[in-house]
Amino acid sequence: MKKLSIRDILAKKGKEKIVAITAYDALFTKLFDENVDLILIGDSLNMSFNGKKDTLDIDINAMLYHTRAVCGAARHAYVVADLPFGSYYDERGAIKSSLKLIKQGGADAVKLEGGAKKAHLVRALSDEGISVVGHIGLMPQSVRFEGGYLVKGRDEKQAQGLLADALALQEAGAVTIVLEGVISSVASEITNAIKIPTIGIGSGADTDGQILVFSDMLGLFDEFVPKFVKRYMNGADLVRKTIKNYADEVRSGAFPSSEYEYKK
Ligand code: KIV
Repeated sequence: MKKLSIRDILAKKGKEKIVAITAYDALFTKLFDENVDLILIGDSLNMSFNGKKDTLDIDINAMLYHTRAVCGAARHAYVVADLPFGSYYDERGAIKSSLKLIKQGGADAVKLEGGAKKAHLVRALSDEGISVVGHIGLMPQSVRFEGGYLVKGRDEKQAQGLLADALALQEAGAVTIVLEGVISSVASEITNAIKIPTIGIGSGADTDGQILVFSDMLGLFDEFVPKFVKRYMNGADLVRKTIKNYADEVRSGAFPSSEYEYKK
């Protein structure tokens, strides 16, 4: 299977949809890899994997650990690693953190949250030969600053701001932009206005690609289900029932039966 490069991702714009998903380890990466174009080691792992209330306290070394696991297993998908909150507040920090995820972790690109105000960082990273995926709209790393997970683009001023952010990121050298929680008509307008691909999450059908957090779409994380998440299976129920079955069989002595033992 061919490993996808940034050229393959860019070439999909206007031709075929980009299929993206998060992964945090080698086990799931191997299961997803052949059917997706892009895998994101999202800092969402701090919530769904580490059980924290938001993404803010994960650090670069934890992201590196997960990036190594995913990159060691991905044979096909283009792999993007999230820069965690606080790891890119200036150009030097952004370069240092990104080099860690790329040189030690094996990522193809890094992703950072923010629009025009972060364009100078995207420029600095691009000048170092580091591919950057932007992320605008609902930005989980701003949850404490904004006081919640806020859908963006509801009024004309916000919509124009998002468009300006997307253009600034493109101008600075971003290779792709994630649009999260953006009103669908605004996401559509942004997608049509820029040359680089947009990947949507909760932003309607007109973006160049779609991404979902894997534990949401597999129904493994069932504490909270956002409106935009389609659950393609009820993973949590399936796992709970299966573990109960295992526990019942161990307690009753039904497992292990003789077919599961070594004999002389
Ligand atoms: O952290 C993450 O998983 C993300 C996606 C929601 C795009 O940023």
